[in-house]
Amino acid sequence: MAFHFQDRRRSYLEPIEPLLYAVWALRVCLINALRSGDYGILVQYKRLRDLAFVLWFQTLNEHFLRFESRTTIPDLVAAAHGTVLDLGPGLGNQLTRFDQHRVEYIFGIEPNAAFRPALQTQIAKSNWTDRYTLITAGEGFGSIQGDEKPWSMLPRVWGELVKPARS
Ligand SMILES: C[S@@+](CC[C@H](N)C(=O)[O-])C[C@H]1O[C@@H](n2cnc3c(N)ncnc32)[C@H](O)[C@@H]1O
Repeated sequence: MAFHFQDRRRSYLEPIEPLLYAVWALRVCLINALRSGDYGILVQYKRLRDLAFVLWFQTLNEHFLRFESRTTIPDLVAAAHGTVLDLGPGLGNQLTRFDQHRVEYIFGIEPNAAFRPALQTQIAKSNWTDRYTLITAGEGFGSIQGDEKPWSMLPRVWGELVKPARS
């Protein structure tokens, strides 16, 4: 009986697990910030949300990677060549899937600056350091806003980054 109850509870909770992790990540990031004296976080919800999103993503990442490996994503990424624009590279999960011989250069544009440390580590680990330009919100490339839509950025990305790099 207890066994059935556990099964039932697990099947009820499974669909909302990502949400529970999101609440957990927000709580952990808030507590960590306050413990380190960063009280500004109390009035900067977007910064808290960005930090929490990175923790959430890192915590669940193995599931995303496992799921993606059963889709066409790895083949699609491996087919990329020339100059690549990676909009929203996140933790850099796709970096090991690009073909080092076919991809000449990658521009990664990530609006969530809290991804930067983990992403830079992944860029180095997957040997892209010399051929990767990373732009995160609040630095370089004008002023990327976290809520800027990828398609509205494309003319700027082409004119200011990709075109000069190709000529
Ligand atoms: C689900 S994650 C995917 C990360 C990565 N592309 C991967 O395949 O693992 C979505 C990413 O897109 C970024 N993002 C959200 N809105 C964006 C926007 N308007 N422009 C560019 N990137 C955006 C997020 O910060 C996050 O890094």
